[in-house]
Amino acid sequence: MQIISTITALRHRLRDEESVAFVPTMGNLHEGHLDLVRVAREHGRCVVVSIFVNPLQFGVNEDFSKYPRTLEQDCKLLEQCGVDVVFAPSEQDLYTQPQQVMVDPPAIANELCGAFRSGHFRGVATVVLKLFNIVQPQVAVFGKKDYQQLHIVRQIVAQLNLPIEIIGSETVRAADGLALSSRNQYLNPTERTEAAFLCRTLANMGKAMRDQAALNQAKLNQAKLNNLRDFSSLEQEARDTLNARGWKVEYIAIRCSSTLLPLTAGDKDVVILAAAWLGKTRLIDNLEMNLQDGLS
Ligand code: PAF
Repeated sequence: MQIISTITALRHRLRDEESVAFVPTMGNLHEGHLDLVRVAREHGRCVVVSIFVNPLQFGVNEDFSKYPRTLEQDCKLLEQCGVDVVFAPSEQDLYTQPQQVMVDPPAIANELCGAFRSGHFRGVATVVLKLFNIVQPQVAVFGKKDYQQLHIVRQIVAQLNLPIEIIGSETVRAADGLALSSRNQYLNPTERTEAAFLCRTLANMGKAMRDQAALNQAKLNQAKLNNLRDFSSLEQEARDTLNARGWKVEYIAIRCSSTLLPLTAGDKDVVILAAAWLGKTRLIDNLEMNLQDGLS
């Protein structure tokens, strides 16, 4: 495995590679990232992982300076996973000049996480496009845990005609269901136990939605319309439950999984998305589901 820290050296190393699968990361790797690497391995002859804590995607009061930087440990893990190249540029190398040309992501970037993290997805979109231009992969793998990020990256690739296949990889979870995240290590032991309640809440909502959708089949049109409203009451109940347990919920939203917009009649593939604070830690999670008979 080669560890490369400059754009020039990386371009030189990859110049004859025809099948590059790329996993962009901010380092501090855990089993979730390693799973992305395994997926990448299945899709490319040469697997490149970037490690770069991107200042552009952190707000002024966010954890950019305290974000864990563990390059040595990360490289050991990546080597064991059979990665070919680690690209770990310095901030100076990636942002040689102040970044004035930015990628303006689609409007959905201002909703959900974007409503609470102003400019976050603009920073993500910009660095991802820069990394794509530098690495020029055929395939790139992103985790579904960052569901909105994955959606926005897909939009960038589609709308800017980038010749890259984007693969969304399933979220890796701890035994109690908590989605793995580098930020989980900020949780104290009590919070860590409580943290699994977020995914349990989404699972409970999912079950209630299925029950509701099934019931819906047997009802008249007016009752079917009420169904959409009932889902918003499920969102509210989930918010109330988490807040009552000491969480500070930013949002819990049931959306169409392909557009991330609010549900409309006929939607079958849906996703429940959530972001909430537990103490000083912001956690996100989501649950995809298929309502077989759709909403009508
Ligand atoms: O998901 C992440 O780790 C980051 O947002 C990414 C895609 C590496 C861009 O900095």
